[in-house]
Amino acid sequence: MSQIISIVNQKGGVGKTTTAVNLSSALAEKGKKVLLLDMDSQSNATTSLGFSKNDYEFNIYHVLLGIKKLKDIILKSDIKGLSIAPSNISLVGIEKEFYNPKNKNPELILKEKLKDIKHKYDYIIIDLPSALGLITINGLSTSDYVIIPIQCEFFALEGLSQLQNTINLLKQTINPKLKIKGFLPTMYSRQNNLSKEVLNDLIHHYSEKLFYKKNSKNCIVIPRNIKLAEAPSFGKSIINYAINSKGSIAYKDLALAIIKKT
Ligand SMILES: Nc1ncnc2c1ncn2[C@@H]1O[C@H](COP(=O)(O)OP(=O)(O)OP(=O)(O)O)[C@@H](O)[C@H]1O
Ligand SMILES: [Mg+2]
Repeated sequence: MSQIISIVNQKGGVGKTTTAVNLSSALAEKGKKVLLLDMDSQSNATTSLGFSKNDYEFNIYHVLLGIKKLKDIILKSDIKGLSIAPSNISLVGIEKEFYNPKNKNPELILKEKLKDIKHKYDYIIIDLPSALGLITINGLSTSDYVIIPIQCEFFALEGLSQLQNTINLLKQTINPKLKIKGFLPTMYSRQNNLSKEVLNDLIHHYSEKLFYKKNSKNCIVIPRNIKLAEAPSFGKSIINYAINSKGSIAYKDLALAIIKKT
């Protein structure tokens, strides 16, 4: 059975794309078949895996418009088992198209497009933009789970209750199966007291929502790690850029925790 997991947080720059790319790669490295779906017009996930706009003619925008089938835009990455459905700046215009009166259920368009191919993958990971607009609603409507990256910085928990309300609303209406798989503390720095405070707050209030390593009481935390920030500029995930770095180890731990929770 395939699992569809959205990486979501309406706050910008919290590590959604870094998590989507490196979790997908770590799952593939464990032998899983993974599709990474780039649903952000910034197309950071696409470029992070080394694809530039000249490498592909069609992208997720054309799929959502109905011009192309999802299977026709998928690209194979350098990592065995990992494919990507790329995005492009043209995706900025999609919300307007969604409101076309011929679309009876604009929040279910992505779900419809995934139907034909989802059985081919163990995991489909969706990188969402930082907004609670119709693209995010489409991602949440088709997902089984969400992972919420939380940056260990000031205002980290701001907006979290609004996001949880949105998820609950979707659960009560169009997607009853939707569940929060977990909160993921990101960009944690041991030298930074504020980082420690945010992590302690998360452990105190949401310990059951965090991810844990096998046989360990310590929750999985993504450290602030320069290799994670550098890898995208080489068009590589952390798995083929710096497999033994602290960032890589953390995402591999996360992948194992997710496989175990399946
Ligand atoms: N653990 C980390 N250590 C160091 N740098 C990181 C880490 N995680 C993310 N970054 C860097 O922080 C920036 C924001 O991360 P990212 O793009 O993953 O966030 P995002 O939530 O997807 O942002 P957006 O809301 O713009 O889509 C990027 O430059 C990324 O390389
Ligand atoms: Mg992003």
